Parts: sequence; C-alpha cells; structure tokens
Amino acid sequence: MGNGHNLGSALQYFGQAKKRINDIFKEIGEYIIETDQFVDGFKDKVGGIMEILARDRMKVAFFGRTSNGKSTVINAMLRDKIMPSGIGHTTHCFIQVEGTDSQEGFLLTEESDQPQSINSIKQLAHNLSAVKLEENSLVRILWPKSKCKFLKEDVIFVDSPGIDVTQQLDSWIDKYCLDADVFVLVGNAESTLMQTEKNFFHKVSSRLSSPNIFILLNRWDVSVLEEDVEEVRLQHLDRNLGFLVDELKVVSNKKEAEDRIYFISAREALISRLHQDKGTPTPTGTLQEGFQGRLFEFANFERKFEECISKSAVQTKFEQHTKRGKLITSEVRGVMEESYHKSLTKTEEQVKEYREKCDELDYLGKQLKLLTYEVKDKIKLMVEDVERKVASALND
Ligand code: GTP
Ligand code: MG
Repeated sequence: MGNGHNLGSALQYFGQAKKRINDIFKEIGEYIIETDQFVDGFKDKVGGIMEILARDRMKVAFFGRTSNGKSTVINAMLRDKIMPSGIGHTTHCFIQVEGTDSQEGFLLTEESDQPQSINSIKQLAHNLSAVKLEENSLVRILWPKSKCKFLKEDVIFVDSPGIDVTQQLDSWIDKYCLDADVFVLVGNAESTLMQTEKNFFHKVSSRLSSPNIFILLNRWDVSVLEEDVEEVRLQHLDRNLGFLVDELKVVSNKKEAEDRIYFISAREALISRLHQDKGTPTPTGTLQEGFQGRLFEFANFERKFEECISKSAVQTKFEQHTKRGKLITSEVRGVMEESYHKSLTKTEEQVKEYREKCDELDYLGKQLKLLTYEVKDKIKLMVEDVERKVASALND
C-alpha cells in the first residue's frame, strides 16, 4: 500500500481483500455448523429426558408376611378382584398392575414379549398360578385405566410374595424397591410386627434415604370381636409408631407417624366396594359389626397415600428432570452467547477490512487525480513549450 503502489498492484489488492473476507465467512459458516452439531447433541439429551418422563409413574410396593392380605388390599384399592388371593392363590412372584389405554386387560411375563390376553379375572388367576415363575421374576398385568382412578393417574401397584417365605430379600430390594415411591407394609392385627417384617424395612431404609412407609393393620374385622379391642389397638399403635419413629427413623415425630398407620379390613373394603360398583346391596352378615369405621379408615388411608405418593414422586422424579433441564438451557445459552460474540468479532474484523479497502481506494483515487493533474500540467507545459518553439521558429 501507499506510495509504492502502481495501478496494477492496486487492482490485485482488491482481489486479495475479497479472498480474505471470503475466508472469514467460510470460518463463520464452519463455526455455525459446529454450533449446530453441538446443539443437536442437546436435542438428543432432551429427547432422552422426555422418554424417561413418559415412562415416569408413581410406584407403590406392598410387602408383608404371607396371608396377611396384601393381594386383598390391592384388590380393594383397584375395586376389582384382579390379584389372585386366598388359599391356593398365594402370590409366588412379583405382580405389577399398571394402567393401559386399551379396553382389554392383558398380561406380560419376563419370559416372552407376547402379550397374553385376559378374558376374565378367573382366567387371570388361572394364568398366574399356571405360570410357575421364579419368585423374584415379574408378571405385569396391564389393566384398563378406565376401570380404576389410581391406574388412570399413573400409579403402579406391586404385589409380592410373603417376606417370611423368601431368602432373596436383598435382590428384591435391588429389583423392586429402589424406585418405589411408597411402601405399604400389610400387617396382621392378630399378631405383632414380626422381626422378619422389621428386618426387611431396615434393609430398605438402609438403601433408600427416607422411604415412605405406611403400615396397615389388616384383618381388624376379626380383632375387633375381642373384648379388649381398644387396648389391643393402642398397643399396636404404640409399637408401630415406635418402629417408624424411633427404630427406622423414617418419620420425624409420632404425630406425623399417626398418619401412616391404619386399622383396616381389606376384605370388607373389597366386598363393599364390589357391591357398591355393581349397585347391589352388600348381603347382611358379610360385614362385621362396626364395618363403617373400618371402611372409613381404609378410605382415609387412601387419601393420605394419594397425597404422599404424588408428592414423593414429583420430588424424586421431576426434581431431577428440572435440574437437568436447567443445566441444558444454561449450557445452550452459553454456546449461543459464545457463538454470537465470536461472529461479532468476525464481523468487526470484516468491517475493518472493508474500511481499509475503502481507505485504500480513496488513496488510489487521490493518486490518480494527482497523476492526472501532473499529466495535465506536463501536457500544458509541453504545449506551451511547443507553442513557444513554434512561435520562435516562425519568428525565425
Ligand atoms: P400371599 O400372597 O399368600 O402372601 O397372601 P396375601 O398377603 O396376598 O393375602 P391374601 O390377600 O391372599 O389374603 C389371604 C386370605 O385372607 C384370603 O382368604 C383373604 O380373603 C383373607 N383376608 C384378607 N384380608 C382380610 C381381612 O381384612 N379380614 C379377613 N377376615 N380376612 C381377610
Ligand atoms: Mg398375595
């Protein structure tokens, strides 16, 4: 640039400047592609979270000694005899009941991905006792959501074999308890809390920071016939409160723990609900004296259970998603900002380049002008010189 330039190299300079600007745009383009790929990575992450979100449901697992009435409690809540129960229908493996949008229920086992149809509850019970499964394997019952409010609201029920008949408590916990939002211990009001039941929940609470545990003292319809029923009730209450508050330390005080202990009769709840839904009166004699109180207690349990499970599931499941979502947005924002600043600097460089080019052209223009003046002057001088010479020649 500057004085050393002649006309030829000045024209080349335009070409050089053009090439440099072009390179800058190429770089910006590459940067945008890179950013796009980076942002695409986030798209996958968000897709992954949405997939988990679609599968997220509230899970309640029922445990207790055999024959305490776990399956009956679940049936009462589902308002249908879905789980096989009673003599000859001992639960041998884990059975999960979850909602389906289809009108017909069906069955899925771990052995096959072929859904098996269930035409009647009777057949389901037959199917379940026919398939001899490992006790820690899982059978899934997909039951129409339209038939039960819990299923409609995305609650999954897990029924288990008796905790007193297994050696596999640890693998049970690993397989079925770690993602449970609520545990229901189905106890028997006719006996005290057994060590096997306590041990199981000690194990659970050593794996989960603060499991939500409800204790149902079932078969209260039987105990209630005894004379000292109020004394029995207080004794049960005291022991179970002590277990939750002092032993397991999963509830901070006894007042709160009282919302976790219920004296119920799953049998009565199931029978009366089945009749209620059919619109038929419950035959006299099928329910024990004072059944209203126990039905009320069962409904009370469900209300507290609903509150507890939804709160817990929102906290444990959605809090994680929220944190990850926040992280992703802030990361994407960072990338966007960086890309914006980088392209801004590039643009600045580009503007500077243009400005330089303009200055250069300006300079060239002036040079040309000067040159023209010089030429003009020279021509003028030459003409004058020639005129003079001609004049003197003429004079001569
Ligand atoms: P397993 O699957 O063998 O571990 O037993 P479970 O805990 O699932 O017990 P299930 O629901 O099969 O109930 C056992 C028996 O007790 C059945 O005959 C029920 O009808 C009966 N039963 C359940 N709940 C009650 C109740 O509240 N009162 C009375 N009287 N009987 C009940
Ligand atoms: Mg059972």
